[in-house]
Parts: sequence; structure tokens; C-alpha cells
Amino acid sequence: MLGNLLDANRVCMSFIFLCSRNLLLAALLKYAHFTRERAPHRAIQKSKIDKARCSFENRRFSPIEVSLPVTALLTTNLGNTHLLGRGKVRDLYAVDNDLLLVATDRISAFDHVLASGIPGKGKILTQISLFWFELLTDLVPNHLITADVKEFPAALRPYADQLEGRSMLVKRAAMFPVECVVRGYLTGSGLKEYRLSQSVCGIPLPSGLEDGSRLPEPLYTPSTKGEVGTHDENISYAATVAAIGEADASELRRLTIDLYKKATQHAESRGLILADTKFEFGRTKEGIILADEVLTPDSSRFWEASAWKPGGAQPSFDKQFVRDYLESIRWNKQAPAPGLPDEVVERTQAKYLEAYRRLTGHDLSL
Ligand SMILES: Nc1ncnc2c1ncn2[C@@H]1O[C@H](COP(=O)(O)OP(=O)(O)OP(=O)(O)O)[C@@H](O)[C@H]1O
Ligand SMILES: [Mg+2]
Repeated sequence: MLGNLLDANRVCMSFIFLCSRNLLLAALLKYAHFTRERAPHRAIQKSKIDKARCSFENRRFSPIEVSLPVTALLTTNLGNTHLLGRGKVRDLYAVDNDLLLVATDRISAFDHVLASGIPGKGKILTQISLFWFELLTDLVPNHLITADVKEFPAALRPYADQLEGRSMLVKRAAMFPVECVVRGYLTGSGLKEYRLSQSVCGIPLPSGLEDGSRLPEPLYTPSTKGEVGTHDENISYAATVAAIGEADASELRRLTIDLYKKATQHAESRGLILADTKFEFGRTKEGIILADEVLTPDSSRFWEASAWKPGGAQPSFDKQFVRDYLESIRWNKQAPAPGLPDEVVERTQAKYLEAYRRLTGHDLSL
């Protein structure tokens, strides 16, 4: 009897053991399947991101944790919303009496829009502009009404997936036909002009300045606002007076310098040099307002302060990888513009994200 009971007990234990072993095996198999399904994808993503990180010019930065959006938004389509036009980067829509600016992921170089975009770029640029609008609001009113899609007119809500994070409803202004450029350092077209005439936009400068030299004081060096495909040209202050009148010309110059000084203070607090930038202003019933994008890597040169070394090109947070690639394939800089290989896209995206993080102190999850 006892023997029978022990046997039954043994059978029972073996049964329980087998069941739990099978359950365990099933769980292990399922886990193995799960990781096999995802591992290659994760591995590719991770290695691509790592590669991009390693090739940063500024390697000491801590890595950015983001999920890469897969596709770039190159063109918006907002149904019957009145499309006013497409700039190189932004799509402009009229919404009642206001303007909807949507920053796409298009990227331009050498005055041409390239065939590939940078996924998430429009969001990064929009968020950088929003950051600055807030920081600079004491100095000049700006065009922002809202960047919150939930506050947009109801007719736009169905397009929230295209608009989220990358669009601003703004006051429509009569734009001044002047790009208000300010330079604290000598480089780019300013340097070219200096080498020819030891002056920039007619302003005489000391001798001996080199690429990347700090200027004695910030210079207002306006330029024309070129049509798509044309190059902006530096003009003298006198030429802006002739174009828009003395009162507005001097106000734009004052605002530009004041904005630059305040932005520079902030950039320096983040270990960055704001070498130069471009503002656009417009007029509304209320007066002159700051419009367009503000202090983004597309409209400004930001340099790493600790790596600054006059006498050559400074590493910057803009489209350097793109320009280098386009030079390497010897594109003749005529339409049609080529696309970009994945690696250049990813490195450029990482650079824009890095600019956002350095300027705002926050990570951006796209
Ligand atoms: N509040 C505003 N009211 C009216 N027009 C505006 C306002 N803000 C910006 N704009 C205009 O919207 C357009 C934005 O287009 P975008 O910047 O994409 O093109 P772009 O200026 O031709 O190219 P890029 O900036 O690459 O040189 C610019 O022409 C700018 O002057
Ligand atoms: Mg523009």
C-alpha cells in the first residue's frame, strides 16, 4: 500500500517536473524567437548610430538616445489649405489672415534643395526657433501665435501627423527685403570680402584677421534676399537705407545687434560660439516683428568654444558633412541636386540633434 502510494507520488512528481520543464523550455524558445526577430534590426540601428556618434567632430559629447525616424517628410500635403509657396525648407500656407509655416525635412546646400531629406530636421529646427523666440521675446515681439497643433484652427487637425512638432502658426508680416546678418567672427562670405578689400559690407576692418578671427565688435552686414536658386549678396548699410528708408534700416540694425548680443551670451553659457547669424523681420499693424526661423544651425554658425582656433575652418553644427560629401562626388552644383547616402543623412541628423541639445540643455525625442 505504502509502496503504491510512493509510486503514485513519484509518478506525480515526475509529471509536475516534466510539465514545468516543458513550460520553461517553451518560454525559452519564445524568448529566443523574440530576440532573433528584433536583434538584427536593433543591431543595425545601434551600429549606425554608434558610427555616427564616433565620427562627430566633437567626440567628448555624451551620446544622444533617440529613435531614428525612418523617413523624411519632404513635402507637406494639407488638402485644401491654401498653399502660398514652398521655400527651400519650409512650406507656407495661408490660414485665415495668418500664416502656417511648416518646416519639412528638406535640406539645401549650395543654394539647391537636395533629393534626400534629413528625417526629423524640420522638427529640430522648429524646436530650436521656439526656444529662441522665448528667450529673446523681451527684445522684440515675434511672429509666433502658437506651435501647438491642438490650438490650430480645426480644419488643420486632420493633418496633425504632418504638423506635430514642425509647424508654427504665425502672424503674416510684410517682410523686409533684407537678410539681417550679424557677424561676431570673420568667415564665409565676410572673409572673402575682407580678403579683397579689408572691409565687410563697406565697414573697414583691422589688418591681419584670418578665417575664424573674432571681430573687434559685432558687425551688421546685411544681404539681399535672393530668389530660390540665387545667391544672397552682401550689401552696404547705405543700400538698405535706399531700399527701406533710414528709420527702418537703423531699427533693423539695432535689433539685429541686440539680438545677437543676447543670443551670444546664452550660447557662451553653453560652451558655444555664435559666429554669425541671419534674422528676418517683417511689419504688421503692431510694428516691426522678428519672423522666419531664429538662430538655427541653418541660419547661423555655431562653433565649439573650446575648439576655436582662428586660421582655418572651424568645426560647426551645420551641413558640413553634406557639403563635404557633395564636394567629394564633384557635383557641378547645378540642378538636379543629388541625394545623400544613408551615412551622411544619419551623421547630419545627429549633428542637428546635438545642436538642439547643446543650445537648450534638453534631449529631443523625435
Ligand atoms: N511671419 C512671416 N510672414 C511672412 N513671410 C514670412 C514670415 N516668416 C517667414 N516668412 C517667409 O517665409 C519663407 C520661408 O521659406 P524658407 O526659409 O523655407 O525658404 P528660403 O528663405 O527661400 O530658403 P533658405 O532659408 O534656405 O534661404 C521666407 O521667404 C521668409 O521670408
Ligand atoms: Mg529662409
